[in-house]
Formats: sequence, structure tokens, C-alpha cells
Amino acid sequence: MYEDDIKNAAKHFENLLREQIDRMERIKHEGDWIDYSKLKPIIIGVAGGDGIGPYITEQTQRVLEFLLKDEIDEGKVEFRKIEGLTIENRVKHMQAVPDDVLDEIKKCHVLLKGPTTTPKKGDPWPNIESANVAIRRALDLFANVRPVKVPELGIDWVFFRENTEGAYMLGSRGVMIGNELAIDFKVITAPGAERIIRLAFDYAKKNGRKKVTVVTKANVVKKTDGLFLDIAEKVAKDYPEIEWDDWFIDIMTAKLIDPSRRSQFDVIVLPNLYGDILTDEAAQIQGGVGTAGSANIGKRYAMFEAIHGTALRMVKEGRAKYANPMSMIKAGAMMLEHLGFTDKAKKLNMAIDITNSFEKKITVTGHPDGATGEKMANYVIETLKDPNLEEKWKKYVNQ
Ligand code: IPM
Ligand code: MG
Repeated sequence: MYEDDIKNAAKHFENLLREQIDRMERIKHEGDWIDYSKLKPIIIGVAGGDGIGPYITEQTQRVLEFLLKDEIDEGKVEFRKIEGLTIENRVKHMQAVPDDVLDEIKKCHVLLKGPTTTPKKGDPWPNIESANVAIRRALDLFANVRPVKVPELGIDWVFFRENTEGAYMLGSRGVMIGNELAIDFKVITAPGAERIIRLAFDYAKKNGRKKVTVVTKANVVKKTDGLFLDIAEKVAKDYPEIEWDDWFIDIMTAKLIDPSRRSQFDVIVLPNLYGDILTDEAAQIQGGVGTAGSANIGKRYAMFEAIHGTALRMVKEGRAKYANPMSMIKAGAMMLEHLGFTDKAKKLNMAIDITNSFEKKITVTGHPDGATGEKMANYVIETLKDPNLEEKWKKYVNQ
């Protein structure tokens, strides 16, 4: 009785396989990393997104423009507003990212992006794909880098989440047989796994990190996670100076909250969905998803964003201006670092630490009893102006 569905699904699967083989071949032949030092200007696209997105994006841009004032004046850096990445416009075009918006994004070198609403079943919008997922795929942003730091607990983790494969690659393209049998697909390719694992090991090596932890569920999900783990074993051989171990996602989730174990984790690399989940848990340990920044990096493009959503409720209740911009400001620091403005990134990270972890003079609660995002950004800028910023930061760290 399901004959037609089976035939359609088999044809669909065949198409998916061919597409995935093509994609894998493209990864094998992709070019080298872009060199930002050779660009003039470096074009930074800014897309506010939905909900609280435009509010926290505006504050982040102010902080970055302050830090990059000379570069902007000299024409080395240009900020460019990207319109149309709103849920209204995406729904109007029935596209996760409308073609003309994607064209504009592709004319920039990097993108600073506010959160974008991802509809789910039952929402007032049609169930279009997540703009995040679509941009990551369209720009091949294969590495989702998410640092989490809680100095007082000895936590200093950097997550390298694979960002274009796993359960996400074909997340919107599963099949239904009748309306009672649902099947989704999960994809891992050897070159896709290799490039993210290598990036994690390279990062560890360049930044004096000691260990890389690989997280899978290879005991159960044998093909895809099995391949990921095999590739990790192979890549690790090229980095004999870096210790590595592997954990299953379930026990890893537990160990992140085990005080006797968690400070031993360092660099962590993992497939897409596990990375999605584990980085929210990690961010919560740091103080909530509102405190974490996220870099989506590919060889040609990169996108920097908060790890949280659009908080539409805050907008509905008139509280958008009280949203905490810190997660995006952190993403901004990651952007500076990625573009090679290492000193500015360092300064901004120090100002963030001072504002957020040490002085705590400004508290954003998301409600009128807390500061506005603008006030928070102003404070970061004032902190940056302090000629003794580094000494001040060191004093706090050594306390
Ligand atoms: C994230 C978010 C996204 C994801 C959503 C919005 C699609 O949770 O960046 O972690 O699942 O990747
Ligand atoms: Mg997530």
C-alpha cells in the first residue's frame, strides 16, 4: 500500500546520494584560506535579523566601529548593512535566505549576524528552513567555533562543532512514508570530518593547548560517528604533541557538570547536532546562552553571531532594548581575531571580562530593572578607552 511512497523515497534518496557525492568532491578540491591582510577594504556585512537581533547587533557594531575607527577612516574596513534577512521577507520569498539577500552577503567578506527566527511546526509562519543553517551551508561555513570560559571554575573550553554535515545537512529533506513512518538522514564525509578535526588540532597547536577531545556516539551510530572517530584517530597522528581522547556524547554531557573532571577538557571537536546541544549546556555553565559568542568559519567566508535565538517575547513585551548584547559583542571579538586584528580582539576580550566577570557594575536582566543594551555597550567602550586596560585586567585575573 506504500508502493508509491517507497518508489518516491528511493528516487529522492538516490538524488541525495548524488548531491552528497558532488559536495564531498567539492570539499576535496576547495581552495585555500582567504588572506584578509591582502584585502582593501575588508567588507563586514551587518544583518540585524529578527526580534532582539537588530538591537544587540546595533550595539555590537558601535563597539566594533569604535575599535576600528582608524581602519574605517583609512578605507581598510567597511561596514555594510544587509537588508532583508527578516522573517517577514524570508516568508514573503518562501526562502530561508532570499536569493538577492544571499547575493549581497556574498559580496561581503564576513558577516555579523543577529539571531534570525527559525519557524517550527505550529508557528504562525510557514515552516521554512533556518536562515542560520542555510547560510552556513551556502557559504560552506564548516567550523562553528564556540569558546566557553569560567576562570573561577578552571573552565576554558573551545568547541569546534562541525557545522555543515551531520543531522543538519539534510535536516529539511527527510522522507515520510504515509503519515506514520518518518525518516531523516545524517551525513558525515571523510573530507568534511577531516577539515574540522584538523582545524581543532591546529588551533590546539597554535594556541598552546594540550588536549583535544573528540565526542561522538560511535558505539551506537556506527557508520557516521564511526567514520568521524576513525578520521580523528588518523588526524591525531599528525599532532603527536597534542594529547587526545574520545568520549560518547551522553557521558560527556554529564562530565561537563562534574567539577572534578570538567576543567580537564580543553579543545573539543564534535559532529553538528552534538555540538549544538553541548555548546548550549556549556554556555549555561558560563551564565546562560546570552553570554556566548559563536564564529562560523569557512575558507572563503565567515559569519559571527550570538548562540541564542531572537527572544520574540521580549520584543512583544516591549523589552527589546533591555536585551543583553554581550553574546554578540563576544562574537565581534572573535571576528576581530579572525580578521587578523589580534590586538584589538585581545583588548575587547579584556574589556568584556572586566565588564562582565570582574566589575559587574552593569547588569542586564532583560527587564527594566536591569541596564539597557546600549548602556552595556557604552560601558564596554568606556572600559576600552582606559589606557591602563591591560594592567587593570591583569590585576583582576591575578586576584
Ligand atoms: C545554534 C542554533 C541553531 C542551530 C538553530 C537556530 C537552527 O541553535 O546556532 O546553535 O541549531 O544550529
Ligand atoms: Mg543551538
